[in-house]
Amino acid sequence: MIDVNKVRKDFKMLNIKMQNNQLVYFDSAATSLTPNCVIKAMNDYYYKYKSNSHSADSDISLKTQQEVEKTRAIVAKFIHCKKEEVVFTSGTTNSLNIIAFGYARNYLVEDDEIILNIAEHASNILPWYEIAKTNKLNIRFAPLDKDGKVTLESIKKVITNKTKLISIALVSNVLGNENEVEAIVKYAHKHHIIVVVDGAQAIAHQKVDVKKLGCDFFAFSGHKMCGPTGIGILYGKYDLLEKTSSLALGGGMNARFDDKPSMILKHAPYKFEGGTLPFAEIIGLQRAIKYLVKIGLDNINEYEKQLKRYAISKLSKLDNIILYSANNDSGIITFNIKDVFCQDAGTYFNYQGIALRSGHHCAKLLPEYLNCIGTVRASLYFYNTFEEIDRFVEVCKHGGDFLDAIFK
Ligand code: ALA
Repeated sequence: MIDVNKVRKDFKMLNIKMQNNQLVYFDSAATSLTPNCVIKAMNDYYYKYKSNSHSADSDISLKTQQEVEKTRAIVAKFIHCKKEEVVFTSGTTNSLNIIAFGYARNYLVEDDEIILNIAEHASNILPWYEIAKTNKLNIRFAPLDKDGKVTLESIKKVITNKTKLISIALVSNVLGNENEVEAIVKYAHKHHIIVVVDGAQAIAHQKVDVKKLGCDFFAFSGHKMCGPTGIGILYGKYDLLEKTSSLALGGGMNARFDDKPSMILKHAPYKFEGGTLPFAEIIGLQRAIKYLVKIGLDNINEYEKQLKRYAISKLSKLDNIILYSANNDSGIITFNIKDVFCQDAGTYFNYQGIALRSGHHCAKLLPEYLNCIGTVRASLYFYNTFEEIDRFVEVCKHGGDFLDAIFK
């Protein structure tokens, strides 16, 4: 189980004040806090062996190269794939763009169809819109079920013999639902459909096994899983990665080139890693994964469930709160304070020292479905406490009064 008082000591930032109040950090779906050990690992790189990895001519350069490959192996073990199937990217958005522009642009042709759904984040919508425009494809949206989830049944409603690709989040960043990805992948593969999974909101909160999921591609970011910003992962089945074009040419991703002119690129994953890699961030990600594994993803998941259930049990008793994500166990609590614009509510929580996110959360098709302009999202992680939830619920109770006072 989680010893939250011990865990909190690992995160120096939890000690800061915001608006003269002790910070309550309820914005981990946007970015998680970074434990001290990750910051130290990155500092060690800068203080002790800052170097480029390309030629490994020096001891420090060799060390950097070894750390990169060690990280690749640790990521592979963490998500259960081969290390050749792990590509370093700058984050989920970058990974999804590589799939759209490096894979789908090459293989999808006029009138082919892509299935998305309205709960997706912009990063899992806009690249597909662009490919649909250039390759003359059609986008179809799978309906959400009554809780906002994408089920196999929803996919079956929109699948046709022209469907070539489904792109879907494992966990939605607004509603917090876990979609039925494993079942969808099984069904899709029977119809020779590629499945791309946005794992950004899942990776830090539950065990992810890409082999078990069966998906063809899986994308996630380091900064939502206790790691630094600027580093992410693209997982792809090796044969698909080999078929995917690299979007950034240059640096050490080529095997050779001549003046004809012709070039031969390296094999995956290296052909995607042109230019100097973000070494500190890769090393930070390695440390973050070790940290999460030590805490235990199952422990994290169980603790988040308890926090969420506690919060929902209290919030559902308040008659000024509208809840949108009460029926799932993820740490995402999406809500509105009755008659209060979501961004005003965000400002109000900030005044009380509570950091959370308000607005459309980059899922701009969802507010219409929810019948609101936007929402407030409190997102929990294993360093949050039941006492923080009590404080948050107290602030929720008085939301309307506070705004009345400001606007009087
Ligand atoms: N995708 C991040 C979020 O949902 C930024 O807040």
